[in-house]
Order: sequence, then C-alpha cells, then structure tokens
Amino acid sequence: MKKTINTFREAKKNGNKLSLLTAYDYSTAKLIDSCNIDGILVGDSLGMVCLGYKNTLSVTMSDMLHHTRAVAKGVTNSFLISDMPFMSYQASVYDSIINAGRLIQEGGAEAVKLEGGSNIIPQIEGIVKAQIPVVGHLGLTPQSFNVFGGFKVQGTTVDSAKFIIDEAKRLESAGVFALVLECIPKEIAQIITENISIPTIGIGAGAGCDGQILVYHDILGLYDGTETKFSKEFANIGIQTKAGIESYINEVIKGTYPDMEHSYSMSQTDLSLLKKKLFSK
Ligand code: KIV
Repeated sequence: MKKTINTFREAKKNGNKLSLLTAYDYSTAKLIDSCNIDGILVGDSLGMVCLGYKNTLSVTMSDMLHHTRAVAKGVTNSFLISDMPFMSYQASVYDSIINAGRLIQEGGAEAVKLEGGSNIIPQIEGIVKAQIPVVGHLGLTPQSFNVFGGFKVQGTTVDSAKFIIDEAKRLESAGVFALVLECIPKEIAQIITENISIPTIGIGAGAGCDGQILVYHDILGLYDGTETKFSKEFANIGIQTKAGIESYINEVIKGTYPDMEHSYSMSQTDLSLLKKKLFSK
C-alpha cells in the first residue's frame, strides 16, 4: 500500500514504529521499496557514499535533483523524501521555496528535509505554505559540522539538551510533519518524542524515537568512510561484492568465462558457408 504523510501521522497516533533508509539510485530504490519500508530519503549523504566527497557541504541542487529523479523512478509504495543541500535554503525564504519546489516538481520527491531549528523557521513556514511537506532535522546536523567543530554528539549538557528540546517544539509549531534526531543522548530523544505530536525519526538517538533511519551503505557494509557507534551492519555485501568481482577477473584470466552457456552460436552449416565466402578464392 502506498505510504503517505498520513502513514507518519497514524504511526505516531498508534505507536507503530516507522522504518526509513536512504537510497541514491533507481535499482537500489526499487529493492528497498519492495521491502515495505515506510520512507526512503535521498540524503545528502549522497555526497560521501556515492560521489566521493569528504562531507555533505559540496552537494549541490543539481546532484540532489539528478539522484532524486533516479530514486523516484524506482519507488512505488514508500514515501519519498529528498534532502535540501547546503546553501539551497540558508540564504533566503525565496530560495528555499524555489529549491524545495524543484525537488518535488523536477525530482519527484513527496517531501523535503532541512537541517536546523530557529535559524530556518521562516524557510520552513514558507515551504509548508507552498504545500510541500517538510521533515525537520536536529542534533548533529552535518551541514553545520564546521560550527560544531566536528561530528560530535549534541545535547550532552543540560543547557544544550534543553536547547534541542525547545528547538523541537519550535519546528513542530512551524509545521514540520516529522523530525529527524541525529546523534543525541537517547534520554533527550525520548523526552522530545513524548512531548511533541509529530513522529521523531532517530539516527543515533536511541530506541525511544517513533522511527529509525540509517544510511543504506552503512547497514550493508558498502562504505568504510565512517565509523559511528550507532550504525549497525545488518549484512556485509561489500565482502560478497568483492569476492564476486575477484571471481569474475580470475575466470576472465583463466579463460573459463564466457563458457558455452554464456555465449551465442551460429549453426555449423552457416559457419561453413561463411568461411567459404570469406576464405575460398
Ligand atoms: O543525508 C542523510 O543520509 C541523512 C540521514 C539523517 C540519514 O540526512
């Protein structure tokens, strides 16, 4: 059944957990979508796991549009969210509405996600007024890592925890329909979850959230660029993929691939005729 914004609202109301994963291309999106997942996020983690960037700051609107379009083609049932990249919404409300609109209209996303709190409330309100569903994102917001001085757990002191809790309420009032909480103590995520009416989606925020999201490459052992306490490898297809590629190379070198089963043939009669045409004088 097609998941919509109402799937998120009902999950919060009924206490059902939401599961989300990132995707960046058509075939992966199709595979994830077939697993009855609630939401797929074209995250700006795209920059690191697919484009080889050091962080998410270099990801552009054209990167996000290109990959959102590909993912959208593979999604039938999940709710599709696309990340607004760095500098596509920070400078002005106008920019944020135009760029959110592009991710919906040209990319095929159903909602957008923005990182930040009170600093971007006018942008969130503008996008919501433009009839585009918005997901908020608090805690360790990777687009602000230069301000944090690195990728650090947030909300670990009384004051910083209170700040994040207050920010969550502000985002709820601004109209976000769900809130990603990244890398904060599980107790703080639990307080937020119990005190707002929209679902919280945790990534490194403990089991008390209304749902969880992880990066596709991390859960399958496909990316060794980050080591985080919260991420879990549920399978390692990186090892299997490498073994498969090595077998291919070996068989090519030995000449055992392609064999009869994987080759096309011509009838002996036609082959003799052809050879006669080619080689007899
Ligand atoms: O870009 C991303 O992958 C994210 C995470 C919250 C999954 O924003």
